[in-house]
Amino acid sequence: MALEGSYDLTRFALDAEAEIQRLNAQIDLFWKQELALYRQAGLQDGMRVLDCGCGTGYLLHKLRGVFPNLHCTGIEVDERLVAVARRTGGGRERWQIFQHSISSLDFPDDAFDLVVARLVLEHLPDPVAALKEMRRVLRDGGKAVVIDNDFDLHERTWPDSPALGDLYEAYRRARRRDGGNPCIGRELPGLLKAAGFGSVDLSLLAAHSHVLGDAAFLKAEGSGIPAQLVKTGYLSPDTLDRIGGQWRSMLSRRHHAIFRMLFAAVGEKGAVAPALDSDLESNVTTYTASSSSGSVEPALVSVDRLRRFILETLANELKADAETLPTGESLIRSGVDSMAAMALCSRLESQFGVTLSLADVLCDSSIDDLARKVLSLAPAGDFA
Ligand SMILES: C[S@@+](CC[C@H](N)C(=O)[O-])C[C@H]1O[C@@H](n2cnc3c(N)ncnc32)[C@H](O)[C@@H]1O
Repeated sequence: MALEGSYDLTRFALDAEAEIQRLNAQIDLFWKQELALYRQAGLQDGMRVLDCGCGTGYLLHKLRGVFPNLHCTGIEVDERLVAVARRTGGGRERWQIFQHSISSLDFPDDAFDLVVARLVLEHLPDPVAALKEMRRVLRDGGKAVVIDNDFDLHERTWPDSPALGDLYEAYRRARRRDGGNPCIGRELPGLLKAAGFGSVDLSLLAAHSHVLGDAAFLKAEGSGIPAQLVKTGYLSPDTLDRIGGQWRSMLSRRHHAIFRMLFAAVGEKGAVAPALDSDLESNVTTYTASSSSGSVEPALVSVDRLRRFILETLANELKADAETLPTGESLIRSGVDSMAAMALCSRLESQFGVTLSLADVLCDSSIDDLARKVLSLAPAGDFA
């Protein structure tokens, strides 16, 4: 099965086996709060649970430890992880793992009481399509729990380790380049609504080293991802050394602390979704644009069209070939200066009625980010 998006076990971290251990440690890190969240979402023994992108199957295994009669189903695209998740089940009854994509689930409507996607949507090019599938297979009144990172609000330490900022900046670039959205955490409630969930809630899950101990964090972070970022050219070896040095110095301080957050959104199937979210659906919205004759015509605008518009505007300003401008790289690194950025802001305003600041364009944004942002800022149904 073809993998799409920004998670591929064999390329994500330097060592696949260590990455499998890291995934499990990440579940342990947030387990106490997550279990409370699943209970709050109505999970009870005997229910039918689907874990989408179940990885090693460890979440289902932990849930089964608390609810022994749970009907556990996992789906996973990665063949190797499918095999691991089947082994995690250890031949138990009511334990099924299938090789499916979350975007086209091979289950009938209304088949599950609770559907989970944990650290999966952040890797997908079309998270709304995945959420629609999750909603379809839920029974009326059933809940979807989606948990993701937001790499602007990720791990922090005391004393501060500023080099972590460089690591996360490199990580964000790599994931965006591969088609993911590493800052999706803050968008989760809106995406759930766009997929048709009517009642939506959001909580932040927090893990702290004074509660869980340093070892829990060291296992959940590891060095496989930073090392892979160096290997693939997103992070310099010097920066990796700085990260290691600051990390060691932080750990040597008596009252040091490590803190990390996850975003958890819960949506219920049943209530009617507000109409305003149609603009996020399939990343397509309608707008009215002035034609050359001056009349106003309805048209469709998508992230793809906005990306093209931004690309061509910048290429024109920079006197460059549009094909040479990378769409996933930070604009400032691609040579976009403040004059070109100002010209882009003004064209986006006159063409689409969307006002962006210079910082929106220049601070760690790529053309892909901007296209998504312009689409999300568009007045619903009237992109004038
Ligand atoms: C970061 S891992 C998280 C795994 C697991 N949910 C956990 O919390 O440990 C992301 C998982 O999503 C899976 N995945 C990526 N794209 C997928 C898709 N389209 N359908 C199903 N699973 C997918 C990956 O193979 C991987 O197992």
